[in-house]
Amino acid sequence: MYEELKEIKNLNPKKFIEEKAKEISDIVGDGVAINALSGGVDSSTVTMLGHRALGDRNKTYFIENGLMRQNEPEQIVAIFQELGVPIEVVDAKEQFFAALKGVTDPEQKREAVTQTFYKDVFGKLVRESGAKYLLQGTILTDVDETAAGIKRQHNVFEQIGIDPQEAFGYKILEPLVQIRKDGVRKVAEALGLPESIYNRMPFPGPALAARVIEEATPERIEIAREANYIVEEELAKEIALKHINPFQYMAILHKDRVTGMRDGKRDFGLQIEVRCWDSIDARTATPTDVSYEARKRIADRLTKEVPGVVSVTYNLAEKPPSTMEAI
Ligand code: XMP
Repeated sequence: MYEELKEIKNLNPKKFIEEKAKEISDIVGDGVAINALSGGVDSSTVTMLGHRALGDRNKTYFIENGLMRQNEPEQIVAIFQELGVPIEVVDAKEQFFAALKGVTDPEQKREAVTQTFYKDVFGKLVRESGAKYLLQGTILTDVDETAAGIKRQHNVFEQIGIDPQEAFGYKILEPLVQIRKDGVRKVAEALGLPESIYNRMPFPGPALAARVIEEATPERIEIAREANYIVEEELAKEIALKHINPFQYMAILHKDRVTGMRDGKRDFGLQIEVRCWDSIDARTATPTDVSYEARKRIADRLTKEVPGVVSVTYNLAEKPPSTMEAI
C-alpha cells in the first residue's frame, strides 16, 4: 500500500534530468517504452525525458479523447514536431464518449476516463507496440490527494495498491513522482521546452469531463470547451497586463438550469461558473482578485457567444473546503 514518498527538495534540474534519463534507460534496457502526451507540463516533461533516454524506442502518443480544449491537439503536436520529437495522434473520441454515456457520478466519470485511457486505448497501443513500460507524469501532489481519498487522480495506481502489470499488462515508470508542479516546471525549462509548455496552466487528466457537472455528452463538452476558451482568452489579457498572476482558471458547466430571457422570451438556460485560483502547489488555493471589469467582460462574452448560457457566477470559496476542479 501507499508509503510516504520522499520529496526532492533543492532540486537541481540538470542533475535530475541526467539521473532520470539514466534510470529510464537502465530499466528499459534495449526494450521499448511508450507514453501519452497531453501537452501539460508533466506529460511534456516525461516525453522529453523518454526521448532523451531512449530516442526512437520511446513512442509518444497524443490521445484525442474529444475532451481537450480548443485547438489543443494541433498546437501540441506542432510544438513537439518543432523539437524533433515525433508524436502519433490516436483518435479515440468515440470510445471516450461511449464510456462516459449516462455517467453522472463524479468518481465514476473519473473512473470511466481512466479505464478507457489505460485499458482500452493504451492497452491496445502497448500490445501493438510491444512496449513493456509506460512512462507517466504522475507528480507527488497526485499521489497525496489520491492516497488521502480526496480525489481519484486518473494516473495513480501503485501507490493505492493497484498493480498495473496485473490490471493493464505493463509496468509504469514515474520519473516525476518525487517532485511537485514547481519542480516540474524547472525541469521542463531545462529540457528546452518552450515557455508555453513549461509555464502551461495545469489541466486535469479527465480534461473537460472534469468541468461538466453530470453527464459529459459531446454537446455539453463543446459548451464547456467554448466557455473555457473565452475565460482563458480574457484572463490571459489580465495576466499580460500584470493585473493578476493566477495558478489556474477555468469555466464549469453546471447541471442545474435557471430561468433567463432572450429575445423577449423566457429561456430556461445554462449556468457557467468561473473559477480563478491563486496557489503555489495546488494543495491549497484562494480565489484570485479578478477585477469587476474583467469578470463583467467574461460574463458578457459567455452569455453572448456560448449558446444557451443565461447565468455566470464567479467562485469565491477557498481550497479547502473546495477543490480546484468541480469534479
Ligand atoms: P483539485 O481539483 O484536486 O486539483 O483541487 C488540484 C490540481 O490537480 C489538477 N487535477 C488533475 N491533474 N489528473 C491530473 O493530472 C487528474 O485527474 C486531476 N484532477 C485535478 C487540477 O486541475 C489542479 O491543478
